[in-house]
Amino acid sequence: MARYELVKRSVALITLTNPPVNALSSAVRHAMAKSMEQALNDPKVTAVVICGENGRFCGGADIREFAGPLRGPPLVPLLDAIEAGEKPVVAAIEGVALGGGFELALVCHYCIAHFKARLGLPEVTLGILPAAGGTQRLPRLIGIPAALELITTGRHISAQEALKLGIVDQVTEQNACEVAVEFALRAVAKPLSSRRVSMLTTPCPPDLDALLEVVTMEVKKKARGVMAPLACIQAVRAAATMPYSKGIKRESELMATLFNSGQARALQYCFFAQRTAGKWTLPSGAQWNNSKPREIRSAAIIGLGTMGRGIVVSLARVGISVIAVESEKKLLETGKQMVIGMLERDAKRRGVSASLNLLKFTLSLQDLKDVDLVIEAVFEDMALKKRVFQELSKVCRPATLLCTNTSGLDVDALAGVTDRPHLVVGMHFFSPAHVMKLLEVVCGPRSSSETIATAMSLGKRMGKVSVAVGNCPGFVGNRMLKPYMDQATFLLEEGATPEQIDKALEDFGFAMGVFRMSDLAGLDVGWRIRKESGLTGPDVDPKNPPRRRHGRRYCPIPDMVCEQGRFGQKTGRGWYMYDKPGGTNAKPDPLIQNLLEMYRSRYAIQPRNISDQEIIERCLFALANEGFRILEDGIAARPEDIDVIYLFGYGFPRHRGGPMFYASMVGLERVLERLEHYHQAHPDVPHLEPSPLLKKLVACGSPSVQTWREHIKTMHSHL
Ligand code: 3HC
Ligand code: NAI
Repeated sequence: MARYELVKRSVALITLTNPPVNALSSAVRHAMAKSMEQALNDPKVTAVVICGENGRFCGGADIREFAGPLRGPPLVPLLDAIEAGEKPVVAAIEGVALGGGFELALVCHYCIAHFKARLGLPEVTLGILPAAGGTQRLPRLIGIPAALELITTGRHISAQEALKLGIVDQVTEQNACEVAVEFALRAVAKPLSSRRVSMLTTPCPPDLDALLEVVTMEVKKKARGVMAPLACIQAVRAAATMPYSKGIKRESELMATLFNSGQARALQYCFFAQRTAGKWTLPSGAQWNNSKPREIRSAAIIGLGTMGRGIVVSLARVGISVIAVESEKKLLETGKQMVIGMLERDAKRRGVSASLNLLKFTLSLQDLKDVDLVIEAVFEDMALKKRVFQELSKVCRPATLLCTNTSGLDVDALAGVTDRPHLVVGMHFFSPAHVMKLLEVVCGPRSSSETIATAMSLGKRMGKVSVAVGNCPGFVGNRMLKPYMDQATFLLEEGATPEQIDKALEDFGFAMGVFRMSDLAGLDVGWRIRKESGLTGPDVDPKNPPRRRHGRRYCPIPDMVCEQGRFGQKTGRGWYMYDKPGGTNAKPDPLIQNLLEMYRSRYAIQPRNISDQEIIERCLFALANEGFRILEDGIAARPEDIDVIYLFGYGFPRHRGGPMFYASMVGLERVLERLEHYHQAHPDVPHLEPSPLLKKLVACGSPSVQTWREHIKTMHSHL
């Protein structure tokens, strides 16, 4: 847990040994305390170096321990003792110094960092604050504005930035540990008092209150309803206004208010869910750690529309050569210019040169003979996609993987028209594809484990959070979106307004409510799909009673909005009105209010007052209910996968953990009771009927979300 050695006859080298990130578990803290005591008491030792095994200094406190009672020596007294010791202590930072790891570096009298090291206080992203003196020492060392920025955002910084800020003393390209030992030998005779950060006076700007006010407003705007950044600001204020001994007490009080909060539990759940989601497994026993991905050097994208362009950028910026295909010369040229512009802006932002030499643009599928993988991103039209896949099957070498970016069509039907169904898989990106982190990897029944492994690994290489899902209409994300959006439009019929519904969802934590989001995405897309599936337009069966399709409730208001040419932001009108086409400033539109009033009177609907609680319950419980069905159907392997999809693809607020975690926090019994209540009130809405899995989990005593999988495993899996 911590190795103790004497090097160069007089330097105690303490190496943290807790793979994979040398987290400060109770055993590590215990071993560190013992090692420090030994070093300080041994007269042969004149200086100490602390480093981490396997090129990683320390990833901070062991987050897994947060769920149980504190065991082992607490961190604060241990760190205070290191700082107060009379022998110089040098931190040798390689890899990462995060959270408690960074706080450990702050108590060392000197810091040497490898040039590739990253430092940061990411506690805020886990719903807590740096509670081992971080909020008190960092402002003393680098001043209030810089410390506030790092602590309230959790941003990681490079070794070079840490040097500029005065956090580290030297950056090296050599072995940081060896450099630190030499440094320690030179530091032996030097006085230590100015190196004890807790003894420094915080450099305090004259307009402290105004500064804190501005940061508070920014934080409230960016992270609506999130507690941790606000507590961080209060802790930093204490560093500016109190001596260290009092400030550290304030830090600890603030930590106590956060530590057991629902938000902290949700954010820590998200941390682990994100890491669990990459660990896919198939009923055949093939899984993430026994299936080898293929190496992808070259790829092709078919269709340079909204999605295709972003996918090209995502591939090229990680060094994959890309051939982009369009159907017409003009479209090819437009797409090419857009891609080049996007890549150049992206490269400029990252301070690298744009990899334009990796790109090739063509009108001919014949050019794709030798690529390793193809991603099709043409219109959402099954007949067209089938033609493309048949063609690809003829043109590409037999080993080429064929992927589709369809947002909901049957991946297996596409596999069926090729000569290699085992090499076909869905790679469902989200818009804009070079920005959004989510990738749904849609596994058809015939996709091979090597194909799935390759798509997952390619996603990771592009910096995406990849989640393996089964093949059904809409897969996971878009399948769940339907009941959620349906509830929002039903609530409009019953008396709510778009702005009321959006406000309730935004107060819950979504960056945008459902109607503002639809205006941004474009209302015509869904309208076209509804027309094609006979839900609206001339193909509707006239025998359908109004407001009913296929025997269930149907709300035609979105169709009526589109019939008026209101397609959202792009036309300057949608559920809201905008200053101009393409405008983003949404204002309530009296014309929508009139439309709703006329609609209600035509169908003799008596509008009623609808509470925010009903909005949240109907939208979010319907969403989670579909999630339970998805688990039941084996389309997602575990609730964490669904939550990760919603966090990274649909803007679900992270401090709520995702729809499934949120349901577990509300209490499954309560969710079941409310769904039963709403289903009784709206029997023609099948999505409100509680799913059998939800009922089963309640009957089993509502186990924790991490154990739901045990209750699902006997059911059929599509993965
Ligand atoms: N505690 C417990 N487990 C941790 C951990 C931690 N601090 N950090 C990482 N892990 C685990 C991960 O869950 C994962 O486990 P798995 O293999 O079972 O899935 C494994 O270590 C490897 O992690 P990653 O897959 O994330 O590895 P990467 O190489 O991609 O990233 C990292 C490494 C940058 C260190 C990243 O893991 C990370 O950001 N970790 C969290 C850092 C953090 O938030 N520290 C603050 C903790 S709170 C604190 O210190 C409080 C203090 O103020 C008192
Ligand atoms: P788009 O309409 O912007 O672009 C499609 C492009 O494909 C057009 O430029 C068109 O000229 C081209 N194309 C059509 N037939 C072609 C052919 N035979 N050969 C070469 N190019 C051809 O569509 P968008 O939005 O990019 O969608 C593409 C696919 O991605 C669809 O399947 C869609 O469902 C899916 N998708 C869309 C998302 C979105 O938010 N727009 C999100 C996720 C997936």
